Amino acid sequence: MAKNTRAIMVGCGGMSGAWLGPISGMDDIEIVALVDVVEKAARQRAEDFNIKDALIGTKLKSVLAQVEADVVFDCSIPEAHTDVTVTALRAGCHVLGEKPMADSMANARRSVRAAEKAYRIYAVIQNRRYDESMRRLRRMISSKAVGALTTVNCDFYIGAHFGGFRDHMQHVLLLDMAIHTFDQARMLSGADPVSVYCREWNPAGSWYDHDASAIAIFEMSDGLVFTYRGSWCAEGLNTSWESDWRFIGTRGTITWDGDGSIRAQLPQKRAGLTSPPRDLAIPQMRKRDRVGGHTALIREFVDSVRQGRKPETVCTDNIKSLAMVFAAIDSARKNRPVAVTW
Ligand SMILES: NC(=O)c1ccc[n+]([C@@H]2O[C@H](COP(=O)([O-])OP(=O)(O)OC[C@H]3O[C@@H](n4cnc5c(N)ncnc54)[C@H](O)[C@@H]3O)[C@@H](O)[C@H]2O)c1
Repeated sequence: MAKNTRAIMVGCGGMSGAWLGPISGMDDIEIVALVDVVEKAARQRAEDFNIKDALIGTKLKSVLAQVEADVVFDCSIPEAHTDVTVTALRAGCHVLGEKPMADSMANARRSVRAAEKAYRIYAVIQNRRYDESMRRLRRMISSKAVGALTTVNCDFYIGAHFGGFRDHMQHVLLLDMAIHTFDQARMLSGADPVSVYCREWNPAGSWYDHDASAIAIFEMSDGLVFTYRGSWCAEGLNTSWESDWRFIGTRGTITWDGDGSIRAQLPQKRAGLTSPPRDLAIPQMRKRDRVGGHTALIREFVDSVRQGRKPETVCTDNIKSLAMVFAAIDSARKNRPVAVTW
């Protein structure tokens, strides 16, 4: 590999700005090409971020034939993720792509197989993992400070008026947002999904064309139960975008409001009907905690490629979060519990 990591950016719409900003501050990454089906969008991004000498193209395959690249960054739309990823992997590039991994489980499996066949890394952006409170919570839960987890409850309620494609998208909450929340649940609990029962609906007065609310009950490994209640059509008293959480262990409970407030209690002593509680100290952030959203994920991916190790959000693991989304949709359609498989 050359001294600099040579990268192609595919998909130059809204999100590409959240990538190219931090990349422009990383001296060891060189954007060698920008690709978008709309050529003007690629040219605009080159201008916005003062990227000189980069090839501008509309088709990844032909761009790959013209420039040497080590990695492809995929910020295209969900329906294009698999084609972009498989094309890049077959050309010998490693890929870091936007969530969700794919628009179906079959397509997600195609990408995983292509990565394995090419001996290349394919990882997915799950920026909500790279949050300071998430890292502190994960450490506290895995240290068994409240015992072994038995129950995780999560609420996500935001009145979001996007006014774009999301207003007309099927399964908008589950596909576009809950992929983050389900991935957070897997990371925090350390458990894998087993089965789910889900109900999806569009509440009266909704400004969405399709279901913008959902309630799902997941059975996770080790008998853990994870409940999710969410809506993008709920005005007033909004939760954080990270959701509002309760983790119940065999000895005590932790809560997180999704912002800065993490609290934990154990019983002080067993007495009477309910025991008087005592507060537990919450772990502080450590220097080695990987935090910082997109910036930290892009950094970790490039370092992993250079050092030949697996990044945290490698596709073979991330596909489990996607499987939770598609199983929840399947359960809602069938109106019965279904297994979560990947
Ligand atoms: N991680 C996050 O927090 C977060 C937030 C918002 C969006 N996203 C994800 O980022 C991705 C992009 O979203 P966006 O909001 O930038 O969408 P967008 O519509 O603004 O941009 C997508 C761009 O991809 C281009 N494109 C489509 N198909 C292509 C193809 N085959 N090859 C090359 N270019 C192609 C489009 O022309 C467009 O310019 C989506 O997967 C979305 O879910 C992630």
